[in-house]
Amino acid sequence: MRNPVSAWTAAALVLAGSLYVTAQEPRPQPPPGGRGGPPSGLQQPRVNAGANDKPGVDPVAAAEGKKIWALECITCHGTNARGTDNGPNLVRSLVVLRDRFGSALGPFLKRGHKMQSGRSSALLSDDQVLMLAHFLRDRVNDTLRGSSEFEVKNILTGDAKAGEAYFNTEGKCTTCHSVSADLRGYAGKYEPVDIQQRFLFPRNATPGGGRGRGRAGGGAAPSPATAITVTVTPPNGEPVSGVLLQLDDFTVSLRDASGWFRTFTRTPALKVTKTDPLAAHRALLETITDKNMHDVVAYLETLK
Ligand code: HEC
Ligand code: HEC
Repeated sequence: MRNPVSAWTAAALVLAGSLYVTAQEPRPQPPPGGRGGPPSGLQQPRVNAGANDKPGVDPVAAAEGKKIWALECITCHGTNARGTDNGPNLVRSLVVLRDRFGSALGPFLKRGHKMQSGRSSALLSDDQVLMLAHFLRDRVNDTLRGSSEFEVKNILTGDAKAGEAYFNTEGKCTTCHSVSADLRGYAGKYEPVDIQQRFLFPRNATPGGGRGRGRAGGGAAPSPATAITVTVTPPNGEPVSGVLLQLDDFTVSLRDASGWFRTFTRTPALKVTKTDPLAAHRALLETITDKNMHDVVAYLETLK
């Protein structure tokens, strides 16, 4: 008789192997030292988690989540998270259905859940939890809607008038955007699917001027103004600011306004302040509802 565990293990290894290959393909790179994706704050309860309020899926994060899934979860919960003899169907799990960007999955995994590597899930970073959350959300969407294609075809189901109202009031979009300036003629620039993607998951420009590829980029590089910056203040010196190149526990490197590379050894006395120009934009993801999202996209689509 076939042993289901080893069959799944084999499937996981095959999958992990093929993912290794796809990992070689170009993809939008997270900025060095910076972290892609929405902010963490995983413990905070999310508002508006009703039926009409499904969070969006970032395909890049979901693809990363799929790799973690293959390495740590697939043998028990199955390729599409629909369960095996060793673990329940997560597409129907309340933990997953109520989750918004790790809000429920994070606390569950932080309590310590078994993983294939034998490590405890409490060791997963917030970013890894977030990627798993995107992967699982994608599986739920596939199940609810038949396929992820469905969502793409129905992007323009929103109400443009309601979107305009949201844009000008509750969404506070006008604090940073104007339909007569930066978003003027926006609909003419991108396909609806790219508009939704660019609006929900704008990418930071990378220091090398590299462009985000794939759907998220919608064909155009993010503006240099979206690069993550850093200000370093030595204990007895002037603050130095520039585009963040690298930040780890030991060093911080930046390129200043005149193009010089500066590297500092990190010490407790060295003050390092990182600024992500898209932080406020990402925070949107925590409150925007599915309806708001579709309405806004419908509105943006009228900006011809
Ligand atoms: C060795 C098998 C195994 C592995 C590996 C495993 N799980 Fe589980 N998982 C289970 C079992 C059994 C349950 C049900 C009992 C429980 O909650 O512990 C479960 C429950 C869950 C639940 C809660 C479902 C609910 O609604 O109560 C979530 C969420 C979950 N797993 C996610 C994951 C994720 C994410 C991973 C990989 C990081 C993972 N699991 C790895 C076996 C496994
Ligand atoms: C705190 C400032 C801020 C707020 C508030 C904000 N955005 Fe943005 N948004 C940005 C920045 C910065 C970018 C990145 C621009 C770039 O890449 O050139 C961006 C990107 C975008 C893009 C993609 C632009 C492109 O070039 O493709 C769209 C669409 C967008 N925002 C719509 C919205 C909407 C709709 C709202 C309100 C729900 C909103 N934004 C709220 C700052 C903000």
